Amino acid sequence: NRLDRPLFCFVAPHRFRILARLMDRLPGFRDFYPEPLPPTKDELWSMDARNHIFGTWRAVARRYGFREYDGPPLEPLELYTNKSGEEIVGQLFNFVDKGERAVALRPEMTPTLARMAAAQERAYKKPFKWFSIPQLFRYEKQQKGRKREHFQLNCDIIGEMDRAADAELIALLIDSLRGLGLTSTDFVVRLSSRNAWSEFFASRCPDASKAYEFFQVVDKLDRTRPEESAAKLAPLGFKLEEVQAFISSGQPTAELQLILDQLAARGLRDFVRVDYGVIRGLAYYTGPVFEAFDIKGEFRAICGGGRYDHLIKQVSGGKVDLPALGFGMGDVVLFELLKSRGLLPPFTAGLSAYVLIEDESLRADSLRLVQQLREAGLATEFSLTPAKGDKQFKRALELNAVHTVRLERQPDGSQLAKLKHLKTREEVPLQPSEVAQVIAAQAGAGK
Ligand code: HAM
Repeated sequence: NRLDRPLFCFVAPHRFRILARLMDRLPGFRDFYPEPLPPTKDELWSMDARNHIFGTWRAVARRYGFREYDGPPLEPLELYTNKSGEEIVGQLFNFVDKGERAVALRPEMTPTLARMAAAQERAYKKPFKWFSIPQLFRYEKQQKGRKREHFQLNCDIIGEMDRAADAELIALLIDSLRGLGLTSTDFVVRLSSRNAWSEFFASRCPDASKAYEFFQVVDKLDRTRPEESAAKLAPLGFKLEEVQAFISSGQPTAELQLILDQLAARGLRDFVRVDYGVIRGLAYYTGPVFEAFDIKGEFRAICGGGRYDHLIKQVSGGKVDLPALGFGMGDVVLFELLKSRGLLPPFTAGLSAYVLIEDESLRADSLRLVQQLREAGLATEFSLTPAKGDKQFKRALELNAVHTVRLERQPDGSQLAKLKHLKTREEVPLQPSEVAQVIAAQAGAGK
């Protein structure tokens, strides 16, 4: 870690060697910097890139009629135990608070959403379509694409049984990734069904209480040695070969075919493949489930989701019973994928104007101009302290400002503003009061 270097080191008179280090962040957590300069650019997480991803997520979700919500990052521990499955409970950041409450940082958004939906379902017409971009916390072993905190776009539809809702959600998932420049040659949505797996399980094992254990083995087949998987399947009454044969059959069930047809009608069929290798690790899924992956298989899943028709009933202690479905798309994998495909645009300070103060006797008038431009909504910068003209100009170029403006005193004592477009290098003389309007008009005309 670049920051984890001794800051200074000296030998104290009494044998003590004191090493002072810059305090570092916790492992698995990220600092987000304004887009850094090369070469640090590739080592640091960029806040500009994060805003770019979140901005696209928000715009696409709104285009699909989804409304934004949020909840608390700290929840009662009980919200997760028994509902999300052992794996995620083992990864909780949990503690007892000063009021003796057992609490946990949210590892996922779905239980919070289920709690919120159950509490206020009467305030909303069904179905309701909601999205959120929460930061989530899981005490996982740090690896590529796996951190101890990440952000997720969560999109969920509550109160709709029809499979049209599943198709709507998958279309939104696809468009969220397309909105960031990815195409059907970059990613694929692998569609599966917990129903199909439940039927397969029930046809061979009568003990329904063992189904989740079986699903967990299937979920990890890709990442586990075959002998180990076979040994875990045997006590449940399954042979590894028959499980593999079911996966490779790949025949869509009637419900999956309905979803595929609706995606085909939208021209999105190429993005989806039926793949029973997907089953989802979380305990609450009930029907169609899906995951999105990069086609080259270099990264872990970008996104995962499905139906969870009983979770709201479970979370509300049986008081509210609403079908639901949704997905979570993580920012970590997505950021790495976009970077590797060269799909992150260059980010700049986004300045409309840099006001050059070459004559210090015009500083007060220049400050007035800066203020006018900012009040007109134009991002404007200037040198806080006296500096040579060429140094200020260089700074304007570094900041990628669209224009520079400088005031000049005329022989008759009046002032003139010189507005220069930094790309075309064209310079126009203007009255200082006209500058804001001219810049805004040029921006409107796409210059
Ligand atoms: P999940 O599969 O646990 O689903 O997470 C969804 C995505 O979040 C993953 O595919 C991955 O990209 C990202 N992700 C998960 N854990 C980490 C981590 N430790 N570091 C970086 N990225 C991570 C859920 O969370 C469900 N609640 C999604 C959902 C919403 N289902 C229905 N509605």
